[in-house]
Amino acid sequence: MRIVVLVGLPGSGKSTWLEGMRVAGLSSDSIRKLLVDDETDQTVHDRVFQTLRYLLRQRLALNRAVSYVDATNLTPAERAPYIAIGKSYGCEVEAVFFDAPLEVCRERNARRNRVVPEEAMARMALKLVPPAEAEGFAGVTVIRG
Ligand SMILES: Nc1ncnc2c1ncn2[C@@H]1O[C@H](COP(=O)(O)OP(=O)(O)O)[C@@H](O)[C@H]1O
Ligand SMILES: [Mg+2]
Repeated sequence: MRIVVLVGLPGSGKSTWLEGMRVAGLSSDSIRKLLVDDETDQTVHDRVFQTLRYLLRQRLALNRAVSYVDATNLTPAERAPYIAIGKSYGCEVEAVFFDAPLEVCRERNARRNRVVPEEAMARMALKLVPPAEAEGFAGVTVIRG
């Protein structure tokens, strides 16, 4: 079993990459919509991620081969729970980093229906720490462009 943690700013192409593989990831935006009917509601952050981790553990209990975590996962602290869950289920955890320039993310973000506010984009870009194997990842793949 494997957990694949996607990492990248809004608009960096995470969900599109999963769609291209016809894979349904555990998406924080989709869970937000399921819980409060609104993909943009940031007031339910903790419940959204509790739910995401609950679904991930259920998948691992069912021995699903690969589970993708589709959220921005910008910092080691945000990624650490998945490494811990991986350890407790004896499965490897990998990261896929969507290394798109902030300008590209901004432009794509501006063109879609669900627009992340400009100041939030800037704040997230400052927060972003690229994933590293030292965090406990079995591998880190970088997707540029
Ligand atoms: N490789 C790409 N080249 C061009 N446009 C892309 C690419 N990946 C994503 N997009 C477009 O950028 C927007 C944001 O992509 P999305 O996958 O939703 O980003 P994320 O899930 O990381 O927030 C979408 O409108 C998508 O069509
Ligand atoms: Mg997305």
